[in-house]
Amino acid sequence: MKTLEWENNKLKLIDQRQLPDNLVYIYCENYKDVIVAIKDMAVRGAPAIGVAAAFGMALADIEGVDLNKAANEIKSARPTAVNLFWAVDRVLNSQNPLDEALKMYEEDMATNRAIGKFGSQVIDDGDTILTHCNAGALACVDYGTALGVIRAARDAGKNINVICDETRPRGQGASLSVWEMQQENIPVKLIPDVASGYLMSQGMIDKVVIGADRIAKGGVVNKVGSFMVALAAKQHDIPFYVAAPYSTFDHEISIFDTEIEERDGDEVRYYGGARICPEGTEVINPAFDITPKEFITGIITEKGIIDPI
Ligand code: MRU
Repeated sequence: MKTLEWENNKLKLIDQRQLPDNLVYIYCENYKDVIVAIKDMAVRGAPAIGVAAAFGMALADIEGVDLNKAANEIKSARPTAVNLFWAVDRVLNSQNPLDEALKMYEEDMATNRAIGKFGSQVIDDGDTILTHCNAGALACVDYGTALGVIRAARDAGKNINVICDETRPRGQGASLSVWEMQQENIPVKLIPDVASGYLMSQGMIDKVVIGADRIAKGGVVNKVGSFMVALAAKQHDIPFYVAAPYSTFDHEISIFDTEIEERDGDEVRYYGGARICPEGTEVINPAFDITPKEFITGIITEKGIIDPI
């Protein structure tokens, strides 16, 4: 199963908003469709956003649109995952946008396999691993980064149990990570976001492995809630790993200068379609948070495990 594919000059995407109940595909026929798919989170997760954006540039080229204009529009779809900017610039500076996008599609799969291979070395037989949000196949072209590490450890013959945070407000852990693990028959349990500290205090979690939207000087930006997991992990001396490709690194800025996306307050006001607070309640809804580097045991990349920058 691929999260996205190039088919008959269109970008075919799994509509992740329909999971876990319906596996539905949507087709982006022009670059504006790709922008909408990224903005509305039909496709999400840093590497998947990057490759989708690359195909968006290829579509713009086929449409005969000025590529600098398309690049600016695609870059404005979401602000935090650096892979989006990296991918658009890479296609913009290439000789052939479609060839470059197809190359990035292939590279993403190979990269994730390599991350999995390195990451599985720090996973022990019998580990219970907590992950936050979805850094799986659905957040990439295939296989995943954090969930790729889990897949690789399982394929190396280790018995692994996975615990997924639900990941309010969008529920990527509950709807996507749990679904992915179940598809592969990897034992998985879902917990409320607020329960991870308690589970750690009870010795029920051996390691944490999460993905990243941007790795910059000083730490890692990932889905909101990651920092709270890191705090609890440090308190309990539990290794906290980040699995991400080099395309997620931003050497230009401090992590504290990264723009953190603020999403619609209705994501918080409503749960399962029902309002859970008084009408008109003011909301703060950051989509990501910052985990300073002193909380991170190691960053699992396609070239090996390294220290945070
Ligand atoms: O808002 P999302 O769903 O795009 O956020 C995704 C995450 O935070 C992922 O954990 C991150 O992109 C790593 S994906 C391999």
